[in-house]
Amino acid sequence: MPALSQQELAQRRLADATGIDQDAIKHGKNIKSIYVYEAPIRVWHWINATAIVVLCLTGYFIGSPPPTISGEASANYLMGYIRFAHFSAGYVLAVGLLGRIYWAIAGNHHARELFVIPVFQKAYWREVLVMVRWYLFLIPQPNQYVGHNPAARLAMFVGYFLLTLFMIVTGFALYGEGAQMGSWQEWMFGWVIPLFGQSQDVHTWHHLGMWLMVIFIVMHVYAAIREDIMGRQSMVSTMISGRRTFKE
Ligand code: HEM
Ligand code: HEM
Repeated sequence: MPALSQQELAQRRLADATGIDQDAIKHGKNIKSIYVYEAPIRVWHWINATAIVVLCLTGYFIGSPPPTISGEASANYLMGYIRFAHFSAGYVLAVGLLGRIYWAIAGNHHARELFVIPVFQKAYWREVLVMVRWYLFLIPQPNQYVGHNPAARLAMFVGYFLLTLFMIVTGFALYGEGAQMGSWQEWMFGWVIPLFGQSQDVHTWHHLGMWLMVIFIVMHVYAAIREDIMGRQSMVSTMISGRRTFKE
């Protein structure tokens, strides 16, 4: 069998990934778009992103409060508003994650990619390596994927899902401390503070988690926009319309 050119290899990979006939891909037929992210995923993504931005901003000010405001204490409620926004966004994040987990069960198979990593599949790790090399500018072309690319999937599992679980558990533990005995937050998460040692330890780890989240967001937004420009498929518009289009 004659050796395949780079382009033919890419067409074959795309055919494998999409299930569309390779001949059709070759002649540019049929590839209009593939529906990947269903509406609940997209709505959740943008609500979740907004909640996390609010949590990082208000969390930062909880850790480093703005300078004292002059006037009667009873006339100012700035920290109260900041904390209220933080807790409200915290509930949006937590309830949103529960809804997202439900959609992983009810939705299409791409909806499960955020929660399950095929750790025992050699081919998966090979593809992760390809994408890491692409991000490091070591190879001229990335592969094409219908859902998340394998490196993005890993980053989202560790940098988003596990980290968000950690933030929710530590956040509600701190909330439970304020709400005290008898509150559901204390009843459910009362074990967390003793596990870490004392309240300040949980504050410190929760605070550190914010900076890890900031790192995730910077890398995530950079990667999404970079893929849109340099990659071989649509990205940002896919999280808006739900449809993935391929450049070849
Ligand atoms: C706080 C900010 C953000 C967080 C925490 C976040 C988190 C996530 C998560 C968890 C996913 C996986 C979605 C799923 O499988 O259900 C995702 C996907 C995605 N996000 Fe974000 N996101 C944020 C902001 C943004 C922004 C500002 C953009 C656009 C510039 C963006 C573009 C995308 C794209 C394009 C995908 C799909 C990637 C793919 O198809 O492989 N995100 N995001
Ligand atoms: C991405 C998610 C989150 C981020 C980035 C975040 C960030 C922060 C930060 C930086 C602090 C200040 C810690 C310190 O230095 O003492 C804080 C405090 C706190 N957070 Fe979060 N948080 C998140 C999620 C949550 C959630 C889900 C809850 C649950 C309601 C929550 C509840 C709290 C509470 C109760 C405090 C302490 C408030 C106080 O001492 O006045 N957080 N958060």
